[in-house]
Amino acid sequence: MEFKKIGVVGAGTMGLGIAQVCAQSGFEVVFNDIKMEIVDKAVNRITKLLSKDVDKGKITAEAKDATLGRIKKSENVEDMADCDVIIEAIVENMDAKKSLYQKLDAICKPEAILATNTSSLSVSELASATKRPAQFIGMHFFNPVQVMKLIEVVTPLQVAQATIDAVMDLGVRLGKEPVPVKDSPGFVVNRILTMGSNEVPFMLHEGVATPDAIDKCMKLGANWRMGPCELNDLVGLDISIAIRETLYAEFKEPKYRPSPFLYQMIRAGFLGRKTGKGWYEYDEDGKIIGINRSVFK
Ligand code: CAA
Ligand code: NAD
Repeated sequence: MEFKKIGVVGAGTMGLGIAQVCAQSGFEVVFNDIKMEIVDKAVNRITKLLSKDVDKGKITAEAKDATLGRIKKSENVEDMADCDVIIEAIVENMDAKKSLYQKLDAICKPEAILATNTSSLSVSELASATKRPAQFIGMHFFNPVQVMKLIEVVTPLQVAQATIDAVMDLGVRLGKEPVPVKDSPGFVVNRILTMGSNEVPFMLHEGVATPDAIDKCMKLGANWRMGPCELNDLVGLDISIAIRETLYAEFKEPKYRPSPFLYQMIRAGFLGRKTGKGWYEYDEDGKIIGINRSVFK
């Protein structure tokens, strides 16, 4: 199966990176969100990132323009009718995703593949909400998509081998390292990552250490590339809690129980880098200014 045109639904943290990587790899991209202003903002961010790459001499100005020229902005699901594959990266919510897939299933061409970037939700359940479960798969990218090499290719029971093969091949064409994994809550990386990082909000609430101290400990003491608080802010506290809730609901294991402190943070609007405040505070370019003084007084 040859892919030429890719639909990317959701222009948030992940959709932005996925759309950029697809366009940079030579694919036509239909980049969709519920409102055009959200897509505009994401494309502005992609433009900024590509301009930085031009300044660094990593790409030419022509390559930047060609990449941007391959991205078609969209606020209507119907714009994806002629896409060969659609990669969904909308909110981590089962009902929202199912409702979107039912619309996509109705308008997409029969041979199109539907892929989800879900972090933890059941890919089998999403596949069952469509009339094409054999052509439904997980493509779990990692944040920041432009930099992280892995794609977990999540295979539900119903998926056809031809779909797995086509998506593995697509992953390679995107310059990534696709690894097939069975559909299971949290797949591989998030199931393991959550085990360690779930302790962090409990420790912060107990006052064991401040976010910067915890991050320093893990970077210098465990050689983590990024501390768990900074990583939590990069991922988004809303996404992190959704992953914990799925793992907790599926395995019924207290070790996955989300900290009440995480819920307090979300209710206060402190979702991390994307809202400018999480465990840390950020400037407009996403650089850390300091720890969140509203929380750690
Ligand atoms: N978007 C695009 N590019 C970015 C970026 C972003 N948000 N952040 C950093 N980069 C690029 C920089 O431009 C830079 O590129 P060059 O080498 O071309 O200059 C490169 O990444 C390195 O960046 P920096 O020098 O600024 O900083 P760094 O060396 O600390 O690297 C990092 C930043 C790549 C994010 C690194 O800290 C890292 O790997 N952190 C861990 C990330 C991680 O674990 N991600 C997985 C999260 S879990 C997940 O995604 C799954 C889920 O379902 C939640
Ligand atoms: P986000 O909140 O940054 O962005 C979600 C976007 O989806 C928003 O722009 C929202 O307007 C849009 N959206 C919501 N409903 C929509 C609909 N019906 N149609 C079109 N657009 C819609 O979220 P995110 O962090 O980019 O996460 C997106 C998905 O990727 C989630 O499933 C998440 O679990 C997964 N994921 C996230 C990360 C991460 O580090 N943040 C990593 C891997 C996977």
